[in-house]
Amino acid sequence: MLTINIITLFPELIEPYLERLPFSRAIEKGALEVNLIQLKNYAIDERGTVDGRPYGGGVGMLLRIEPVWQALESVYGAFDNPEKIQADLENTIIGLTPSGKTFTQKKAQELSKKSTITLICGRYEGMDARIKQHLTTENISIGNYVLSGGEIPALAIMEAVVRLLPEAIEKEEATLLESFSQGLDQKKEYPQFTRPETYKGLAVPEVLLSGHHEKIKKWQKDQINS
Ligand code: ADE
Repeated sequence: MLTINIITLFPELIEPYLERLPFSRAIEKGALEVNLIQLKNYAIDERGTVDGRPYGGGVGMLLRIEPVWQALESVYGAFDNPEKIQADLENTIIGLTPSGKTFTQKKAQELSKKSTITLICGRYEGMDARIKQHLTTENISIGNYVLSGGEIPALAIMEAVVRLLPEAIEKEEATLLESFSQGLDQKKEYPQFTRPETYKGLAVPEVLLSGHHEKIKKWQKDQINS
């Protein structure tokens, strides 16, 4: 059973995905629980403030530490010393930021074996660095480009992880030999084709129609290495 907590200002962006595969099946089978935590509930004032101007100047606003700290307390219980939260090897608290470590299939495999993962979605121009330094156990980027918030990165990571849960997929073999999997030595998978054999002059490679198992295997292997 995997529990994913998502701390976000926009839970409604994430909610609809939970009604679709692979999330819906995993939730239905009791293999996944997703808790959406509205950061505004932990705002510093009545007006719902969760952001602030950067010290030293700079463009835009940053996510403040207090609401994130309190949202984490709602998951892990009250804590005075954030190092305790980080030192607990059971805790996986991920800050989503372009400055984080690039997400990979290997990381998805690793996360799929955890029991609880908490994702912190940034917004504005970023987050107070103390969040990334003291409140997370790791910081992840989904690529070298900047998005307006961590919700799409959270969804990308969640989808990559949840589809690896045995209960989420119909055929487990499907994830054993796909792109970047260990089964394929982390390489990209070979091209695949379906009907029709030819469409507007575009033909399926002859060898795949041959029924010659050995030759097909060799062709697929050559494609991966080319
Ligand atoms: N937040 C904004 N851009 C991001 C990225 N590329 N990866 C993770 N979180 C982000």
